[in-house]
Amino acid sequence: MLVFGIESSCDETGVALFDSDSQTLLAHTLHTQMAMHAEYGGVVPELASRDHIRRLVPLTNECLQKAGKTYADIHAIGYTQGPGLGGALLTGAAFANALAFALNIPVIEVHHLEGHLLSPFLSEKNIRFPFLALLVSGGHTQIMAVEAVGKYTLLGESIDDAAGEAFDKTAKLLGLPYPGGAKLSQLAELGKDGAFDFPRPMIHSGDFEMSFSGLKTAVLTAVNQERQKYGDRLPESVRNDICRAFQTAVVDVLYSKVKAALGQTGFTQVVVAGGVGANAALRAKLKTLNAEVFFPAHEWCTDNGAMIAYAAAQHLDKAHQAGGFTVKPRWRLQ
Ligand code: KG4
Ligand code: ZN
Repeated sequence: MLVFGIESSCDETGVALFDSDSQTLLAHTLHTQMAMHAEYGGVVPELASRDHIRRLVPLTNECLQKAGKTYADIHAIGYTQGPGLGGALLTGAAFANALAFALNIPVIEVHHLEGHLLSPFLSEKNIRFPFLALLVSGGHTQIMAVEAVGKYTLLGESIDDAAGEAFDKTAKLLGLPYPGGAKLSQLAELGKDGAFDFPRPMIHSGDFEMSFSGLKTAVLTAVNQERQKYGDRLPESVRNDICRAFQTAVVDVLYSKVKAALGQTGFTQVVVAGGVGANAALRAKLKTLNAEVFFPAHEWCTDNGAMIAYAAAQHLDKAHQAGGFTVKPRWRLQ
């Protein structure tokens, strides 16, 4: 069966065609709105929705063309129902339902985080259930026990900012252009260890809860102190050292929580998913765990249609007739 997947929950429009019989991705296309939102220093929801509307049809045509298929070849359509921006989700949901209705094929609602969670399977065939999942995206930081597709137990999560959000907010206060997470991590590679020491919030809390908003405040305090010495424009070396200390603190917390969760569950495999999963320091540190650690390929770390097509293909039993639809801007995976 050919499953077409549609992602439109935030600032990426992504579509993909997945073959559920051979479990292979036939093609995908993606448009990121990053440049458009950069001007405003963050995602502007109304602009995001309007852009999804502009992109969905051309991206779909391009994807089908790349796969050498036509609309008539699609058997089912999966789309992100939530969580995400309400208006942005509605564009994908409306497009999916209209297309499925016209083609007389069923739709499958997909949870965006389940898409992220299963995305490592797109490039890695050796993952076996059960495993521990570390989901680190712009909106979520969660540690989960994954028993099977659809069987997810939340062990702990960030009680305030998500790790990606902390990266982006810290980057912003350092004057880096939006979205600063990846840029901050590049600068961190140039910084030296030990020049700054930021707190590791909740690292000894004895559970799997995390907190990252205090860390951002600690960085702000350090930046203000340095500005008193150097003026508004910090020397690049100081800025890079701050980036490094911030990144090390986030990575330490994530590592320590995952290590403890492995101890508690007895699992031997860790699957990392979400945008922060692209972070090189996090990857290097997690690889030192006494476990097999899997990461999504870089192109599947951030939002994309392939992970939604893949997740939909694992839930063909949920396929139903297209028609009236709702979106779920807030929706827990468990
Ligand atoms: O998974 P994703 O596309 O977002 C959500 O679905 O929420 O991930 C985006 C997040 C952003 O916060 C971005 O700054 C962060 O992932 N990110 C990184 C890196 N690349 C992307 N954070 C740290 N280091 C990176 N290399
Ligand atoms: Zn995402």
